[in-house]
Amino acid sequence: MPLDSQTTALWIQPTGGPLGADVYGIDLCRDIAPSTFATLADAWARHLVLRFSGQRLDDDGLMRFSRMWGELDRVPLGTGVEKVNGVAASAVDWVTVISNVKVGGKPIGGLGSYESVWHTDMSYNPLPPRASLLYAIECPPAGGDTGFSNMELAYDALPADLKKAAEGKTCTHDSSRNSAGEFRRGFKAVSDPRETPGAVHPLVRKHPVTGRKSLFLGRRVGAYVQGLAVDDSEALLNALWAHASQPKFAWYQRWRIGDLMLWDNRCSMHRRDAFDETARRVMHRTQIVGEPVMAA
Ligand code: SIN
Repeated sequence: MPLDSQTTALWIQPTGGPLGADVYGIDLCRDIAPSTFATLADAWARHLVLRFSGQRLDDDGLMRFSRMWGELDRVPLGTGVEKVNGVAASAVDWVTVISNVKVGGKPIGGLGSYESVWHTDMSYNPLPPRASLLYAIECPPAGGDTGFSNMELAYDALPADLKKAAEGKTCTHDSSRNSAGEFRRGFKAVSDPRETPGAVHPLVRKHPVTGRKSLFLGRRVGAYVQGLAVDDSEALLNALWAHASQPKFAWYQRWRIGDLMLWDNRCSMHRRDAFDETARRVMHRTQIVGEPVMAA
């Protein structure tokens, strides 16, 4: 049944931090009426990150809700995870497992139990995802919190000289490592960042829906500002990263089973705390195909 009758109960509660809001009064297993979706889309544009708690989604339900935000992106190739990973047969091409759990000694998912550093998902591709959705199936008793950071606020707060230095520049986004710093299959280290493999995007991008400007940094390791001497590129990136990774732009999600996080990958970054490797953490993730990155 469409959720028209529930629209009045839908309630958006901002986190009070620099980004993020809770969405109450919605069961994502049910059909969502266009008017309800419009409210969600408006909340997403305002808050960049939405949390839907207490959900009971299987992979088909996760994919169905995800498709409301656009075309599903395929699971990245070469993740090297165990085929027996708990993903429904209908979802193997579209649902990525993020987990430290091993079956027969082989990981069922990516990123293990260690820290993952600030990044945007798959910005090393020419069309980085518009959105990512991460659903908690098993959570450790402590640790594994996910931080989200508002890159629109970070851009707005840039000192004038850094703003000027970043505007009009493009940067290589390293495709050789994942956000835990591990080399993807088939890649090895390069010593000169001018040789880093990966897509090149503007350092400052314009949001295709809201028109707001944000910093678009991707990942620090391997990054290179096109056209600059390597030392100048390193100095500019160090200054931009020191600014963008300040706690004042960030808010943290402490996971509970049934939480679904939806984030705008165009104007936010995220990171994850490490957790006890003997605890279990199982998350299923979808991603939404993005659009070409527009320079601001
Ligand atoms: C990610 O970095 O995409 C995963 C975040 C998480 O495991 O919480």
